[in-house]
Amino acid sequence: MTNVDRLEFIHRFVPASTPNSGVTLLLLHGTGGNEQDLLTLGQELLPGAALLSPRGRVLENGMPRFFRRLAEGVFDLEDLKLQTAALAGFVDAAARRYELQNGKILAVGYSNGANIAASIMLTNPDILAGAVLFRPMVPFLPQVSPDLQNVSVLLAAGRRDPIVVPEQTLALGEILKTAGATVSLHWHEGGHELGRDDIAAAKDWILSATR
Ligand code: MLT
Repeated sequence: MTNVDRLEFIHRFVPASTPNSGVTLLLLHGTGGNEQDLLTLGQELLPGAALLSPRGRVLENGMPRFFRRLAEGVFDLEDLKLQTAALAGFVDAAARRYELQNGKILAVGYSNGANIAASIMLTNPDILAGAVLFRPMVPFLPQVSPDLQNVSVLLAAGRRDPIVVPEQTLALGEILKTAGATVSLHWHEGGHELGRDDIAAAKDWILSATR
C-alpha cells in the first residue's frame, strides 16, 4: 500500500473550484515541460475541475520527461516500467491525500506525457477512467492485454507529425481497442504542435465523458 505522505513527484494540485462531477484531470506535460505547463489548458478543458499536475522525474539534457529514451522514438523500456509504476503510485497516493478517491481521474497528456498515460493504462488499468492523449505513440507492446472495458480514450494525432507518424497512433488505438477501451480519434491537419481544433475536440470529448 502506498504511504499517503509519499508524494514523490514535484507537482501542482489545484482543488476543484466549482461543485462538479468529481472529475480530476491528471495533466502530463511533454518533453521539456513542467508541472505548470498544462494548468491553463486543464482549466480550459473542464473549468472548475480539480487539476493534478506532476513534473516528470527524468532529465534529458536538463529537460524533464516522464521516462528515459535511447533516441527519438526509442524508449528505455526498463526505465519506462519503473517510472510508470512510480507515477501510478503517485496518482494513487495523491488521490488519497487530496481525497479524490470517489471521483474519476482523466489523464490529459501531451507527447511524452501521453505516452506515460498510455503506459499507465496498459499496466494499471484501474487508475484512469479515461484519457485524452495528444500525439501519442505505442509506449510498449503489452504481453498480456489489460482489461480496459470501462475506459474511454481520445487520441489526437497530427497528419503531418514528423515525430509521431500516424501509424503509431493507429497502432496504439488497436492495442487499446483490443483491451476493450472505447477509442475515439481526432486528426489535426498539422504536425506535433497542438492546434485549436485539438483543444476543441478534447473539450467536447471530456464533456461527453463526464456527463
Ligand atoms: C516521447 O515520449 O519521446 C515523445 O513521444 C516524443 C517527445 O517527447 O518528444
